[in-house]
Amino acid sequence: MAASEKRRPGTPVRRSANRTQALIATARDARLHAVAPFSGFKVGAALETEDGTVITGCNIENASYGLTMCAERVAVFKAVSEGHRRFRRIAVVADTPAPTPPCGACRQILWEHTGDIEVVLANLERQTGHYGLKALLPLPFDAAVLSSSKPRRP
Ligand code: THU
Repeated sequence: MAASEKRRPGTPVRRSANRTQALIATARDARLHAVAPFSGFKVGAALETEDGTVITGCNIENASYGLTMCAERVAVFKAVSEGHRRFRRIAVVADTPAPTPPCGACRQILWEHTGDIEVVLANLERQTGHYGLKALLPLPFDAAVLSSSKPRRP
């Protein structure tokens, strides 16, 4: 986003409906790759960078349940590992009538690596929500908190 387009933290931005639908469709396709034999709950994500590149993710479950990785984090880690650092929004798709928002762990990871991006939620038929990440994680713990601590001797 250009400096002239500054928005209030946590608020979504009006964008082209076609491009939003395309991002949702990409997340819906990514969901088809989900590996969710334990929950049966498949999720797809499509993370858009500032330059318009889209990186996808899906949830990948593990028999050791705690090792499961959510779709959003897969997308963030793929993107960061490929050198992307500036992001605009993420679409998340699940087969639920009500919005499926990112879990707490994903909100934290998204905040650290993408900042106050827009979060577009959808099910298989339609968009179900649109938020600024700051609205979903209003009081984040992050590097600014860490660096505000006075250094002390151990
Ligand atoms: N899951 C996601 O991939 N993203 C979310 O935002 C919520 C949960 C996955 C993790 C697990 O594989 C399944 O959904 C059920 O929790």
